[in-house]
Amino acid sequence: MATPIILDCDPGHDDALAIMLAAAHPAVRLLAISTVAGNQTLDKTTANARRICDVASITGVPIVAGRAFPLRGRGIVAADVHGESGLDGPSLGPPVTPVTSTDGIGYLRDLLRAEPATVVATGPLTNIAALLLAAPDVAERIERIVFMGGSTGNGNVTPYAEFNVYADPEAADIVLHSGIPVAMCGLDVTHLALADEAVCERIAAIGSPLARVCVDLLGFFAGTYRDIWGFPAPPLHDPVAVALVAEPGVVETVRTRLDIELTGTFTRGATVVDRYARTGRPPNADVAVGLDVARFWDLVVTAVRTLST
Ligand code: BDR
Ligand code: CA
Repeated sequence: MATPIILDCDPGHDDALAIMLAAAHPAVRLLAISTVAGNQTLDKTTANARRICDVASITGVPIVAGRAFPLRGRGIVAADVHGESGLDGPSLGPPVTPVTSTDGIGYLRDLLRAEPATVVATGPLTNIAALLLAAPDVAERIERIVFMGGSTGNGNVTPYAEFNVYADPEAADIVLHSGIPVAMCGLDVTHLALADEAVCERIAAIGSPLARVCVDLLGFFAGTYRDIWGFPAPPLHDPVAVALVAEPGVVETVRTRLDIELTGTFTRGATVVDRYARTGRPPNADVAVGLDVARFWDLVVTAVRTLST
């Protein structure tokens, strides 16, 4: 039976492919897409989720807008990585797919009260923390929270903080202490998912308008990853979190202690992973440490092909 999921995201080039994988993979049933401020402002990430549903012909999946700002402060965006629109590269028209609700937190609350689900979060965890604060009863309706974010080592915004956690560390901390099973897909594994030339050629060979859009997205993403981090190809972070739910075995995890650094002179937003159990603190998360890269790309290419027909 397919796993019901809510995809909470901030599209975002890699979020866009995560939406496609979640919509196309037969082992998951996409109940809703909720948007959060992150890669760009909330109005832009919401418009981008709608645009992706337009171009990928994803219908019948409610898109709901969540929080515009993190739990503390005014937040950051990643225009340097994803461009002014949050989805620079392809020319996508004005969005057509409607927004089902601008009260995303209330929508998710009611949805979860009606049907338990797994949450896959590929942006800052603001919406999920806000939901748990506003409606603590839904915690027992969330089977698991799988989030893309963090790292067992270096970060990508500061030396030790990854973007999604850095953008709202308090939210990540609330999620982690919610008592809901948590899995973290951090940079350790997502940096293995490099959309190199061979991957782009496979997607291009599908030959559809959607495939063209994906190639253009990856082309833009390649440029920023080359210019900022010197990567040979862009890492497609967010679909890895969807893959973890959709295809057991594609992402290898270890059970370990995970904490979020909320202060720290240099390390606010770092995910502190006690891989070698040095603290004696009880394990509280499944942390991704390995990726079956070939199977991962098969999933992504198949999703684009499925949505192209
Ligand atoms: C994460 O940050 C965003 O820029 C990406 O969409 C991804 O979710 C990677 O650090
Ligand atoms: Ca994202």
